[in-house]
Amino acid sequence: MHQTALVTGADRGLGFALCQGLLRQGWQVVAGQYMPEWSELAALEREFPGLLHAVPLDVSSSDSVHAAVGAVSGLVEGVDLLINNAGVNSPTSPRTIRETQDYGEMQRLYNVNALGALRVVEAFLPLTERGGGKRLCFVSSEAGSIGGAERTSWYGYCMSKAALNMATKILFNHLRPEGYTFRVYHPGWVRSYIRGTKNMEADLEPEEAAVPALAYFVQARDDEDRLVMRDWKGREWPW
Ligand SMILES: NC(=O)c1ccc[n+]([C@@H]2O[C@H](COP(=O)([O-])OP(=O)(O)OC[C@H]3O[C@@H](n4cnc5c(N)ncnc54)[C@H](OP(=O)(O)O)[C@@H]3O)[C@@H](O)[C@H]2O)c1
Repeated sequence: MHQTALVTGADRGLGFALCQGLLRQGWQVVAGQYMPEWSELAALEREFPGLLHAVPLDVSSSDSVHAAVGAVSGLVEGVDLLINNAGVNSPTSPRTIRETQDYGEMQRLYNVNALGALRVVEAFLPLTERGGGKRLCFVSSEAGSIGGAERTSWYGYCMSKAALNMATKILFNHLRPEGYTFRVYHPGWVRSYIRGTKNMEADLEPEEAAVPALAYFVQARDDEDRLVMRDWKGREWPW
């Protein structure tokens, strides 16, 4: 019997590499598909027939999230591991306070990066209740660390990730006593598509970044009663 994972934002970048890694470890994977025109998930579905299910999922839309719950309920018994990976940045993030701020973009980032994960957890709770794993993972960022903040711009992205971190803390307070465990994670600087095109200046290929991420997401720990944000090197970040 395969364990089942759900990964949001799974078309490319880290999300796709997480799906690939999970399938190779014998998991059944539901991949949240946001970019039907991007072909990598379809190829992976052909490589793992019956084990990878691509399901349309826009985490910024409650209608889309609820439609995805309906589709996933017909495919799997329950979800053991939920990985909230979908995220966006904006070309206007680098604007400093001496430039005109782009509040529309900031609201988009907040809706995807912070509210998106909350929407997904809320809607998929019946399925995570049915799964035995009860593991909720959140791909956050060092950019969301208030204690570690050194930037002088990137308001929208940093604030959205700080808000995501707060959401995980409130979820942790409520759901940890019910047996859920949590992972809040900074994946390192990944050669992903978050700038629109693949960022070859970054440190890690998505496949490399997925290795420590999956180890952290999947393995058991003996400190589950403390919510921490860790990075890909296992270092703890201040909230
Ligand atoms: N790359 C880094 O160095 C880095 C560092 C720290 C944290 N992170 C975090 O890592 C996570 C994965 O990002 P990535 O770097 O792998 O970027 P990526 O390559 O852009 O992958 C993110 C995926 O999520 C999709 N997405 C965008 N909006 C969505 C929505 N509303 N619903 C569902 N999916 C949506 C993206 O589609 P589009 O391409 O169409 O937007 C893309 O396919 C994000 O949460 C990001 O904030 C990344």
